[in-house]
Amino acid sequence: MNYYENILQTIGNTPLVKLNKTVAEVPALVLGKIETFNPGHSIKDRMALKMLEDAEKEGKIKPGGTIIECTSGNTGMGLAIAACVKGYRCIFTTSDKQSKEKFDMLKAHGAEVIVCPTNVEPDDPRSYYSVAEKLSKEIPNSFWCNQYDNLSNRQAHYESTGPEIWEQTDGKITHMIVGVGTGGTISGTAKYLKEKNPNIKIWGVDTYGSVFKKYHETGVFDEKEIYPYITEGIGEDILPKNVDFSLIDHFEKVTDKDGAVMARRLAREDGILLGYSAGSAVAGLVQLKDKLTKDDVVVVIFHDHGSRYVGKVFNDDWMRERGFLDEELKVRDLISMKPNKEFISVQKTDTVRDTFNLMKKLDISQMPVMNNGDIVGSVTENSVLSYLLENPMDNTEKNVESIMGKPFPLVDEALDFRQLSKYLSKEVPAVVAKDRTGRMHVLTKYDVIQAV
Ligand SMILES: Cc1ncc(COP(=O)(O)O)c(C=O)c1O
Repeated sequence: MNYYENILQTIGNTPLVKLNKTVAEVPALVLGKIETFNPGHSIKDRMALKMLEDAEKEGKIKPGGTIIECTSGNTGMGLAIAACVKGYRCIFTTSDKQSKEKFDMLKAHGAEVIVCPTNVEPDDPRSYYSVAEKLSKEIPNSFWCNQYDNLSNRQAHYESTGPEIWEQTDGKITHMIVGVGTGGTISGTAKYLKEKNPNIKIWGVDTYGSVFKKYHETGVFDEKEIYPYITEGIGEDILPKNVDFSLIDHFEKVTDKDGAVMARRLAREDGILLGYSAGSAVAGLVQLKDKLTKDDVVVVIFHDHGSRYVGKVFNDDWMRERGFLDEELKVRDLISMKPNKEFISVQKTDTVRDTFNLMKKLDISQMPVMNNGDIVGSVTENSVLSYLLENPMDNTEKNVESIMGKPFPLVDEALDFRQLSKYLSKEVPAVVAKDRTGRMHVLTKYDVIQAV
């Protein structure tokens, strides 16, 4: 029989997988260290267990005690799993910008979660750091892990992540790139790798709204760099003790949008469902592609699983609301956004009067004109109006065929919606698109403006 004594023994030894389509522009061999294979689906299982076991060894927590931590979810998950196996209570403080899925998963392992406001100073009594500190003072036999400053965090990566990467690449790694939050992953792994080969370049990925890059480059902790951002897990408004800036060769900032878009590409193109910071790491690497050659071997560390972001990065409405989806918006998306999907048209033998009445009744300004199921022309408010003005005495029993204009252009539902500007003009107020079932839809300038 071949089995583990408990789930904690399955932590680590995660696979290294070549990235293909998402890094097609990068000349080097790019390998993803897929930490979602850990039992808590993130790299943080490694350091959570290490922080707890070091605390046990040092007598900082005794059986039956309470683990306290401020966590965006992943460290909490690792701690919660370890607490189940080892028999501890867990209380986590977290910020209200984190995905709800993350809190619910912590609760699934029996943890208690306190949600604190994001947009307060770290020393504000409501911040998730302050609440965790206060609880640790109030609750007897409790241990506040403090992943930011507890150096067991980076030691976990020095002992496991670093050696794994070194062995898996057969010592051929030339660059490592990874998102930086507490700094544990980058600093511990970098220390091991640089001890093996000091020429290995270590690149940290930072967010706009975080202090890391400027501090690394100038030594100045600039509060003006701090503002709220959407990316989860990376960037900070403090300098955690776990970040060893001397081991990091370069920080690359990635926008919220680029990280999210790349996380979606990793899922769709390379088939790997990963979290937000994984998208940021690959986006950062693509930004740095000109610094690489075909002989380089780059390892990107992927922190967590995409299942934690199904309501966010992997939700089209969430992406659209933040303006992250414009590159991907297609004609078919415009169709799906239309509240009324009925295809309203007139026959070429219908009278101008009936056409006018229909337009008035349905409050529409343009319509295709049909004959035997084919689009043969179009009528617009303007064409009806000009006819009525030019022929005021007409009894309007004429066929609409006599006043119709050219048919609206037919476009493919897969067309990028921005391409519609090539079709729409003063004279052409709408296009017609067929969906995959063959149903036709009129898309007007108004529909496009709504989508924008
Ligand atoms: C999703 C995610 N990415 C990246 C990081 C950054 O890792 P580290 O704290 O080791 O710097 C974290 C840490 O919380 C994380 O949860």
